[in-house]
Amino acid sequence: MTTHARDARLIALEDLAATERLAQRLARHARPGDVFGLRGELGAGKTTFARGFITSILGPTEVPSPTFTLVQTYEDDHAVIWHFDLYRLKAPEEALELGLDEARRHAVLLIEWPERLGALMPADWLELVLEPGVDEHARRAHLIAHGPRAQALLAAMDDPTP
Ligand SMILES: Nc1ncnc2c1ncn2[C@@H]1O[C@H](COP(=O)(O)OP(=O)(O)O)[C@@H](O)[C@H]1O
Ligand SMILES: [Mg+2]
Repeated sequence: MTTHARDARLIALEDLAATERLAQRLARHARPGDVFGLRGELGAGKTTFARGFITSILGPTEVPSPTFTLVQTYEDDHAVIWHFDLYRLKAPEEALELGLDEARRHAVLLIEWPERLGALMPADWLELVLEPGVDEHARRAHLIAHGPRAQALLAAMDDPTP
């Protein structure tokens, strides 16, 4: 069950490993300034996706949910990643105090609950919506490109070269 279009994909994730593979496929093409918005209900798998994404770039590392800190930052010689969970954001402007603007200049952004940013959401971003699948281990991922860079990420995802 996979749809192909320039701007959108629907991908069946049969289990946790499939979610991690999807995260890896996107992570290897990510570069500073890229914005991934992770949507879905509590327990959908947003943090799990982020964990797969971050560890595939940085190697084994603790990736706690930023539920209360709102943001966790990761950095090594190759990459800078900021992982936001904006569920508890009270107003979009609060994200600026967290350093959102500065992060966009040098980091890959993974943003759970991107809808909380309202008008502060960057114009070009890849939306990933996680939904329940056919059983408790399965999910469905909708990928929606908002902008040319996000479209390029979708296209690059299909590139088989490691
Ligand atoms: N295919 C799957 N993809 C992602 N998470 C899954 C999958 N199957 C089971 N899970 C479980 O669902 C839960 C998702 O939790 P989490 O990633 O914290 O969700 P969210 O951040 O969206 O609230 C985890 O316990 C994870 O192990
Ligand atoms: Mg989460």
